[in-house]
Amino acid sequence: MTTPPHAQEELDLIAQTVDRVSTADAAVLAELRTEVLGRKAGKLTLILRSLGSLPPEQRRLLGARANQIKQALETAIAERERVLQDDTRRTVDVDGTMPARHAWRGARHPVLAVVDEICEIFKELGFTRVSGPEAETEDYNFTKLNMPLDHPAADEHDTFYLGPGALLRTHTSPVQARVMEQYQPPIRIVVPGRVYRRDAFDPSHSPVFEQIEGLAVDEGISFVDFKAGIDYFVKRFFSPDTVVRFRPSFFPFTEPSAEVDVQCQMCKGSGCATCKQTGYLEIMGAGMVHPAVFENCGIDPERYTGYAFGMGPDRITMLRHGIPDIRLLFENDMRFLSQFVS
Ligand code: DAH
Repeated sequence: MTTPPHAQEELDLIAQTVDRVSTADAAVLAELRTEVLGRKAGKLTLILRSLGSLPPEQRRLLGARANQIKQALETAIAERERVLQDDTRRTVDVDGTMPARHAWRGARHPVLAVVDEICEIFKELGFTRVSGPEAETEDYNFTKLNMPLDHPAADEHDTFYLGPGALLRTHTSPVQARVMEQYQPPIRIVVPGRVYRRDAFDPSHSPVFEQIEGLAVDEGISFVDFKAGIDYFVKRFFSPDTVVRFRPSFFPFTEPSAEVDVQCQMCKGSGCATCKQTGYLEIMGAGMVHPAVFENCGIDPERYTGYAFGMGPDRITMLRHGIPDIRLLFENDMRFLSQFVS
């Protein structure tokens, strides 16, 4: 047998198959082995067999190279076989009947879900969602809202002071003043956020809780627009047949002021423990923006009117889900929270 004329090139090609071995599966590995090392027609076998008919010098060079490749290939194949066998052993260890591990899924806190839903409903009425600082000044928290510091309402808020004139906001109403100072009407905003009061942590109180403030200011906004806006929200949030009641009330920053009640969701108005036998649940304070507040914020009270409201999403969340204790909303107990994963 004579040496193939391109024995050198052929050896180069065979050398490249060494690289293919490391990714081959069992079938490809068997094919490679026959193709290159096969006893009858393996490419490398043929070259080695032809060496005898070569001049001694050429035989030495080609022979050394061919044997080197053969060894490299055999080692690579043996190594690959070992890895493939290991993999098979590993899959045998897996118990296919074992139930999958519980996959944890994140979810919004139930109060945040309610906040988002409320803001979305007001968005349908043209309200933009904005936020304001939790650390406030007395000026924004009280004075600009027509609440002089010696006003009894300022006392009722049981403020956490941070320093002289600086405090943790007791309501989201100061954001009304911040927005009106910065923007001229038309204004339509909802402001969700945390507020702070020096209250004990008990089933119905928390020193930190959530509020959503609302404000609509434009030319010609009347009490009818106010009632229609609130009524739309209540019917969208609760149900279209929910009975809404506006009860006269007092807030320094609105005139006239009202408290808005909805018929008790638990007893449908017949009286129960949740509504303390009244048949109604208060959901917000509201009213027509007081002209003094407009003046304090640089808006012309002769030209513009508006309405404002403030509600507590924690309480609304409790009503919606029948949650008896506000503290459950703050403890982050997964057994409680996981009930609200949707
Ligand atoms: N800021 C009031 C509070 O925290 C709630 C409130 C009442 C907000 C009437 C308003 C409003 O905007 O018009 O008790």
